[in-house]
Amino acid sequence: MKKEFFIILLYILCFAFLTEGCSTIDRGKDPKEAFVSSLLKKMTLEEKIGQMTLFTSGWDVTGPVLNENYKQDILAGNCGNIFNAHTVSYNLALQKMAVEETRLGIPLLFGYDVIHGYKTIFPIPLAEACSWDLDLINKSAALAAKEAAAGGVNWTFAPMVDLTRDPRWGRVSEGAGEDSYLGSLIAAARVKGFQGDSLSDPFSLAACVKHFAAYGAPEGGRDYATVDVSERTLSDYYLKPYQSAVEAGVATLMTSFNEINGVPASGNSYILKDILRNEWGFKGMVVTDYTSINEMVLHGYSTNLKEAGEQAVAAGVDMDMQGSVFLNHLKESVDEGKIALSQIDEAVRRVLNLKYDLGLFDNPYRYLDENREKEVGLSAEMTDHALEAAHKSIVLLKNDVWKDSKLLPIDQKTRKIAIIGPLGDNQIDLLGSWHAAGDVTKVVSLLESLKKSLPNVQISYSEACTTSGNDGSKFPAAIKLAWESDLVIMAIGENYQQNGEAASRSDLNLPGVQQELLEKVVATGKPVVVVLMAGRPLTITWMAEHIPAILNTWHLGTCTGEAIADVLLGRENPSGKLVMSFPRNTGQIPVYYNMKNTGRPFDPDNKYTSKYLDVPNTPLFPFGYGLSYTEFNYTNLRLSTNEIGMKDSLRVSVELSNTGSVAGEEVVQLYIQDLVGSVTRPSKELKGFKKLLLQAGESKVVSFSLTSDQLRFYGANMKFAAEPGEFKVYVGTNSVDNIAAGFTLK
Ligand code: GLC
Repeated sequence: MKKEFFIILLYILCFAFLTEGCSTIDRGKDPKEAFVSSLLKKMTLEEKIGQMTLFTSGWDVTGPVLNENYKQDILAGNCGNIFNAHTVSYNLALQKMAVEETRLGIPLLFGYDVIHGYKTIFPIPLAEACSWDLDLINKSAALAAKEAAAGGVNWTFAPMVDLTRDPRWGRVSEGAGEDSYLGSLIAAARVKGFQGDSLSDPFSLAACVKHFAAYGAPEGGRDYATVDVSERTLSDYYLKPYQSAVEAGVATLMTSFNEINGVPASGNSYILKDILRNEWGFKGMVVTDYTSINEMVLHGYSTNLKEAGEQAVAAGVDMDMQGSVFLNHLKESVDEGKIALSQIDEAVRRVLNLKYDLGLFDNPYRYLDENREKEVGLSAEMTDHALEAAHKSIVLLKNDVWKDSKLLPIDQKTRKIAIIGPLGDNQIDLLGSWHAAGDVTKVVSLLESLKKSLPNVQISYSEACTTSGNDGSKFPAAIKLAWESDLVIMAIGENYQQNGEAASRSDLNLPGVQQELLEKVVATGKPVVVVLMAGRPLTITWMAEHIPAILNTWHLGTCTGEAIADVLLGRENPSGKLVMSFPRNTGQIPVYYNMKNTGRPFDPDNKYTSKYLDVPNTPLFPFGYGLSYTEFNYTNLRLSTNEIGMKDSLRVSVELSNTGSVAGEEVVQLYIQDLVGSVTRPSKELKGFKKLLLQAGESKVVSFSLTSDQLRFYGANMKFAAEPGEFKVYVGTNSVDNIAAGFTLK
């Protein structure tokens, strides 16, 4: 009997070795798949659910802190991911807990909102998009990744790519504006910047495209509000930037708070499975936004949290941010058979794949090097780029002649300058929303920069009021400074909390009593330049009518003051172009460049056309608009032919001349108009742009090629294709001022 027993035991052992051995050393399997599969096999259901759980570190004066429950959850393997935790010392302590004190030692993900910089803050994304410089934007993301990775972070909740046509929504500051073509290119540039060539590069971060989907289209511009758009609008516009991020290889995606056409994003299998997984082939990890699974109950989509968790897993969510829904209910759902273990394994595999790709299983401490942290943070490499990005993000809205000359660049003979307004000697507001671990002490204010640049000029300053509230008691002192000056520079706009998340505004005038201040200063008759610092387009119609020079600088980050001083003094020639239209008033919203003609297109001389009684349909400043200190002229628009087939390409060229007196950069923009389609088509669509530097007097031929692929859209029956017919091509300096020609697509 004994012999038979041992033979059977030997057989069992051999079989066990062969199967176990295969799973760990199977040459046929991809090493990552083999590793992750073997790890999955060892995990309990609780440990698997822990990998689907993400908790935030808290915050106190000394920096991030983790509440004791979360630490216990890490130690118990119930929480595999932390966000809002950074610095090497802090994250090293947490990583040691996970790696050295838990049963399986699975490393933590450390996520953070590195939206436009970590310690060195670059211009807010809406500002940087106005550079139309994809290499610059890519470099900003790459440097932000390098600095944040040196700070112990390995995952950023960026880029935000939500298309936005409504500046009442505060989060327009985080995106790339109203156009899906430009927004898609910027999305890809940012993903590639953050992620670099390999996620295992200790200077790269896993990116997270957000907020999927169409979070930028809330009713009334109210944050978190209902999104109800047609499938065609969703497909032709809002989904494009997310798709571009997926095609660029983004590692993760975040679901949005809003519902889309009745189904909350975190429970929406149409967008998360049909589109994201099946149509786009996304293989990465899906994390929800903050407690958005819990909110499915308030949406009226889930009866209770347990059902919300089941709906989220069924729709394709892999990780629950801060909601504890998976942690508290998913085991029960599996025990009841509501969720299959295979569904859990699918989600956990994607989380573990990400950790594997980041190299965390090779070396969980690869992002945690204190020497590197000291070398990289706020280095010259970072601040030099922050300055360049700030220069390129500034948009010159107006620079009319005042009396006998233009006010910008500031005349060298100016002897007395008054800077007036709440943002003239400010630091934190210039960092803008979502400024992560931005070092406020490194921000140089406009006042400080101008004083440093103009040592022989008398520069006085009056805050005059704040960016909110109604206290005008300091106006007299400010007006007195204006009287005593040769030139007034108004530094006005929004503070960093008046835009960004949960910062929608129903009235887009200058907040507080800044408009009243501006009018009183103008009443002195002194020459006034406005430096407008905000996180969104504001309604500045009065300003545009009464102020000869307006510099729209947004919130430019660490190097704001220096960048603005360089432009005010002509050391830099502004080249930014708006990526969102500026409405004349809030009532005009939504106003965007690629609206449709309607059957009664706007005609100021015909009452019965699509328009308002009180304002024209056109925005105050259109998409693509931005002036320079020089002048550019467009001539000789040429098409290689006036008829192309589906397989042909059309060459479009134009001659651009710098007819002014200084060198300058211009963004040459190419738009098309499809005159007739199986569904109505927008009046214009951006299909190309080129930014180039021309010396004074220099001319260049700028050319583009157009193919039928670029003319595709979702036509009748939602078929994505180009349709034969007549087209117009527009080339010019913005979406309104351009020259046109026609061609036929056969
Ligand atoms: C916030 C934001 C999201 C951010 C997340 C983590 O609520 O909606 O953009 O990434 O929570 O901070």
